[in-house]
Amino acid sequence: MKCVNDCPSDAIDIEAGSINDTCIHCGHCVAICPESTIYPDSQDIIKLKPSQVSPGSFQDLSAGIRTCRSYLGKEVDKDTLELLVDNMKHYPSASNARPLKITILTKREAIASINQQTAETLIKSIGQITSPVLMPILQVLAPKLELRRLKAYKKQFVARQTPESSQVCHHAPAVLLFHAPATKYGMASADAYIWASYTSIFASTLGLGTCFNGFITTAMKRNKSMRLEFGIPAGHQVYAALLLGHPKVKYKNEAGREKPEVKYI
Ligand SMILES: Cc1cc2nc3c(=O)[nH]c(=O)nc-3n(C[C@H](O)[C@H](O)[C@H](O)COP(=O)(O)O)c2cc1C
Repeated sequence: MKCVNDCPSDAIDIEAGSINDTCIHCGHCVAICPESTIYPDSQDIIKLKPSQVSPGSFQDLSAGIRTCRSYLGKEVDKDTLELLVDNMKHYPSASNARPLKITILTKREAIASINQQTAETLIKSIGQITSPVLMPILQVLAPKLELRRLKAYKKQFVARQTPESSQVCHHAPAVLLFHAPATKYGMASADAYIWASYTSIFASTLGLGTCFNGFITTAMKRNKSMRLEFGIPAGHQVYAALLLGHPKVKYKNEAGREKPEVKYI
């Protein structure tokens, strides 16, 4: 009865030996069965190996993972990219819907192009909201937008923007895009950040650095021609983007940040 008790959708009729269509195919029944009598939808049953990650080593790993914005010119080899993608089969997804598809840019010209177009799209968007017409109105309506800071940031960003500056991609040799059919009420955005986060952690165990990239997701949402250029299927939205590469920098110290506020109820 372990499978019956662990099933999140009460889909198993043990007497009839059947599984009804409320099943979300999460495979908990496969995972829990000591007799290996329930088979997965695809592939074989693989016995779990005990994990070697201790709480202390996870804490050390977490403290050492920092956003990487400085990469060596070395490419990330195809086998490593495949390994990162293969491991995504283990990551959680709301209702086990698993809507995400992955697009990986590794060609220099493609990365230079996504960098340039993201920068241009963002400069245009910030230009619109910090224009002399809109800015005074928005400052009243949305004071939290910190428009003055945004305007100063834009000035700096524009001044630094050259084809060589790579302000968005930081010359990373690979850019991972996590996309799915656009949904207003679904949880594809959460799925994408969970998958990108696990990928970032796994990458760090392989000695690779990563950078979540909100610039790219924002620009991709606004700019249809970018979605077309990078082969994002019609109706899909890029929910998370991750730069990946061999880090040029090594961090030696913890930055001493505050833990979050917590309430126990
Ligand atoms: C959702 C998300 C989007 C981010 N977008 C960018 C980005 O577009 N460009 C960038 O350089 N860093 C980006 N970052 C990295 C943050 O700036 C970084 O996590 C933060 O400064 C803390 O530094 P740490 O990651 O080294 O701890 C993003 C981080 C997250 C979680």
